[in-house]
Amino acid sequence: MNGYFITLEGGEGAGKTTVLPLLEARLTEMGYDVLSTREPGGIQIAEKIRNIVLDKNYPEMDRRTEALLFAAARRQHLVEKIIPALKAGKIVVCDRFIDSSLAYQGYASGLDMDDVFAVNQFAIEGMMPDLTIFFDIAPKEGLDRIAANKYRERNRLDLQQETYHENVYTAYQKLLQRYPERIQAVDARQPLEKVTGQAMKIITRFLHDHQ
Ligand code: TMP
Repeated sequence: MNGYFITLEGGEGAGKTTVLPLLEARLTEMGYDVLSTREPGGIQIAEKIRNIVLDKNYPEMDRRTEALLFAAARRQHLVEKIIPALKAGKIVVCDRFIDSSLAYQGYASGLDMDDVFAVNQFAIEGMMPDLTIFFDIAPKEGLDRIAANKYRERNRLDLQQETYHENVYTAYQKLLQRYPERIQAVDARQPLEKVTGQAMKIITRFLHDHQ
């Protein structure tokens, strides 16, 4: 693959979705061909799976079903959109990927992280991100941001107890330790401009080192 695969990760209200188009604009200005996308979703089949897996009308959803649906959406997204873009030499920036499944399903929902990793390996066949930026903010602060934004829709996982989101945060700390080369943290409590700047610094350093 000629391109680079970059993912953005973090808990609820960390700001990655807001920062993503800003990163895309800056990288495009620098002359890179960029594709930004999101999970679960990014293509028709995966957006349909997103609607099912995040629907707050399905509190009965089994946690293994949930993990499998996220992995299925990931598989289709990867094959249909991400891999072709990487083959075309693009920088793909994806809002969430495998680390979300490891943190949310593998740790916070109480499934085993290694089991969830194995299910995801089946889906991604080794296509791990080249670089991951973790948007670091205390879960309570992130949830307060969401609560203050009346336009943001609440999904089934947003509505979990605060301890669930604390566990998601703990899981990301574990992942930072497990993948110190791949995952870099930015301080997501800062103003948007600063967070974007810090993320850009990490990305440009990475691109410089890999060209
Ligand atoms: P978003 O709020 O960033 O759009 O993400 C949608 C929700 O889906 C969010 O609560 C995190 C959750 N999620 C998982 O639990 N596992 C996954 O693998 C992915 C991609 C998202």
